[in-house]
This record gives sequence, C-alpha cells and structure tokens, in this order.
Amino acid sequence: MNEKLIHLFLKRGVLISPNIVKDLDIEKSDNFFKILDSEILSKEKSPYLLSSEKFNEILKKSIISDNEMHSEPLKNKGNIIILKEYQENTDKKTVKDFTAHYKNRYEKLKGLLQGKRNLQNVISINRALNKKQREEVSVIGLISDKHITKNKNILLKLEDPTGSISVLINQNKEDLFEEAYNLTLDEVIGITGSMGNKIVFSNELILPGYPIHNEIKKSNEEVYMAVLSDIHVGSTMFLEEEFKKFINWTKGNEGNEEQKKIVKKLKYIFIVGDLVDGIGIYPGQEDELNILDIKDQYSKFTELIKEIRPDINIIICPGNHDAVRIAEPQPKISKELTKSLWDLPNVTMLTNPATVNIHSNEKEEGFDILLYHGYSLDYYINNIDKVRNGGGYDKPEVAMKYLLSKRHLAPSHGSSLFIPGKEDHLVIEKIPDFFLMGHVHKSGIDQAGKTTLICGSCWQSITPFQEKVGHKPETSKVQLVNLQTRKIKVMNFGK
Ligand SMILES: [Fe+2]
Ligand SMILES: [Fe+2]
Repeated sequence: MNEKLIHLFLKRGVLISPNIVKDLDIEKSDNFFKILDSEILSKEKSPYLLSSEKFNEILKKSIISDNEMHSEPLKNKGNIIILKEYQENTDKKTVKDFTAHYKNRYEKLKGLLQGKRNLQNVISINRALNKKQREEVSVIGLISDKHITKNKNILLKLEDPTGSISVLINQNKEDLFEEAYNLTLDEVIGITGSMGNKIVFSNELILPGYPIHNEIKKSNEEVYMAVLSDIHVGSTMFLEEEFKKFINWTKGNEGNEEQKKIVKKLKYIFIVGDLVDGIGIYPGQEDELNILDIKDQYSKFTELIKEIRPDINIIICPGNHDAVRIAEPQPKISKELTKSLWDLPNVTMLTNPATVNIHSNEKEEGFDILLYHGYSLDYYINNIDKVRNGGGYDKPEVAMKYLLSKRHLAPSHGSSLFIPGKEDHLVIEKIPDFFLMGHVHKSGIDQAGKTTLICGSCWQSITPFQEKVGHKPETSKVQLVNLQTRKIKVMNFGK
C-alpha cells in the first residue's frame, strides 16, 4: 500500500520520506492529491521536496474538506471541493494579534515577490539602512505611509520585520510616479533603487501581480456556471418577479429553444453574498423592508432557491447584509437561522472569502473559484484615482483587477473590517480560474491573465440611498459561463 502511495508522489515529481506518508490512507487520498496538485505543483517546479509540516497541513485540509463531503454525501455530486474556508475564532483580540496578522501578510506576499526579476537580491530593511550611499538595493516591505512631499515627489515608508525605510519616487519618472501614486496603504511591494542617506531613491516598483500569459483552462465538456449576487430578499425593492423568472429558466420553463438547451447543461450557480437585506444594516432600514424578521427573510430566500433544478449545485457565501459578523473573514451563515437552506442537498454554504474547486474528474482538474462579496470595493473606488477614473462603480472589474494585482482582497486597514489573527486570510495566495464578487450592484466582466473576473449584478431596484449618492445599480443580470469555451453570456431577466 505504501509503495502505491510513494508511486503517486513520484509520478508528480514530489520527493517525500516514506515514514511521513503512514498517516495517509490510500483509499481516501484523492482529496489530498487534489490539494497537493493545486497548492504546490502549480506553483513549484519538480522535483519538489515535501516537508512533513507541509504534508500535515495538506492532510489536515484534505480531511476537513473530505468530512464536509462525507457528512453530506450529495454535495459531492457536482464535485465541489472546498479548498479554503475559515473557522470562526472568537478569542479576545490583542495588539499581538495585529502584529502577527501583518507579519503573516508580509511573509506570504514576500514569498510571491521573491525571485521575481530584480528581486533576486532582496535584503532586509535593516541591512539596506547600513549600505553605502549610491549602492543599489532591493527590499520588500509593507507600505505604512505614503504622501506627497513639498517638492511634489512621493515618499513611501516601507516596513519589514527588521525595520522601516523611506523610499522616494521622483516626479520626473512619470510612469513610476503614476504607479506609486496609485499604491495603497498596507500593501506589500518590492522596490529597487539606490541608497541615499537612510533613504532609497527608487527606480522600480514590483507588485506581487499575476502572470499575464498563463493559459486559460477549458473543460472537455460543455458545462455552464452562472454568477449571481445581492439578492436582498426582504427589501421592498427586491425584484421578486425577475428573480422568479431566472428560477423558471433554470427549470427550462423560460427563454428560447437555444437557451432551454443550454440550461440543461447548467451545473453550478454561485451566489456571492447579500442573500437577504438583513435587519438594522443602516438607519431607517425598517421603512424599506417588507419582511421584518431575519429568519423570515432567509425562509423566503430558501423557498425561492429550492425551486432551482435540484441537479444544479448552488454555492453560497455571505455578504455585509447577511446575518453574520461584518468583520472578515465572515463565517458561514448559521444553520440555526437558515436550517432549511443548509438542508437542501444541492446547496454548499461557504465563508466569505472562500475558494472552491468545481467540476474535477478523472480527466480534468476542475476550476478554482475565489468568492469574495466585495465590501472593500467601496474604499478603492473612492480612494484610488486609477480605480475611480477607470470606471469606479460602473466598472467593478477595474477594482477587482487592482486587488488581484496586490494579491489581497482588502489590503488597506479600514477598507474592510477584519479579525486579526495568526493568518491573514485575505491574501490571494493562489491565482484562481475565476474571481467572483458582488456588493456594488453592477455587473462586470474582465480577464486578468488566466483569471476571469466577474462581479454580479443585483436583484434590488434602486434604493433612496443609492439614488442620493448617484449609484446606478444594474439589476436582474446573470453571467452564464461556458466552461468549455470560456465564453460568457450576460442574460437579462429584467422586464
Ligand atoms: Fe448588496
Ligand atoms: Fe454588499
């Protein structure tokens, strides 16, 4: 048995000590190898030496996602594997947790930056501070301050665990200046430049980014996934009729012949948060609700969702209107509130954010999907010129691309509320095939390297608040993705 396992490792070019694998049961190793393939082998070159720590970490993850599937066996039908989700941690938080949180972010992103062109010779900040003037240096640090000097240059303060250093970007280096101008606080970047007196005169900025030319994955069979978000059941502005039209379409009762043919191949529906309008989310909300009890809002949501064809997998994460803490990562919407939803055999409930793999089988490795409701989008649309001028609320895909290039869902402190801990869960460690968001009530689609970015529309007509701040929501749209061709069709269920 052990030999068979060793063979499975060798086949992948993974070197491992035979005494480590004794905890792995070959009968239950599918999930283990799936996680190994997606987390390590897509990033690292073979031969890869698998340490016992990494082995245990993957084993633990594979057991967690395995249990999820075994306790609710029907969930395995469409082959949904939860790659990343979060446990609720209610321990009292201290300053130490903040320090650990940012240190963990720094380490993870440093791992992505190291080895990039011009960052091979990175040194720690305290060593850079001891370099002679005019010497070339490269450092990686978290941006703890950014401002424009009297002379109209940009001055950054970069921090790493050894210290902090000032970095000057001269206004005469136009492209570099613009790049620096659009940096955000608390993101982790690499810089190169020459040393001055305790300051680096930068000539290059390097973001963690994403590979531009990676091949876009395609399925062998014609199968579809649909993206929705921001349903807002319970609001007087919830577009029930339009939503029912969508549900009827999933049952083959709506649309033209071609659409009816396609819908038979629809296997996955993602709902990226704000299932209900919630209670007490903003002052005076009760005047805009027609269901005043949160449980009743979820019952109504479930009543609608359970009409969806039962062989379609429905994958759900919460948003800021849902009945979970607003601080991220947000836990799953609780079973007590939504028992009937949890009980639906084709529903998978996730945390926010979360990453799942769908549609893998013997022949294909499936697609990794990152879901994040998108609470932080407001901050970047309001504070970063490149994002605001690139389309702001009308083009959420610009903000999504911006965040993907930072490899973080909400880098700046204050762009979302978060629970600090040993790990910063909002780092985008592995590039997904799809990156899904919602929250801004405007549909958006774009491609960034191998990743398709999709922002859901909404099922709530314009609220007085949105009218006041000038938002124009886009309602009743569904992005339908053909996983074989990777073409996307935006369907309109509006009147
Ligand atoms: Fe929403
Ligand atoms: Fe939202």
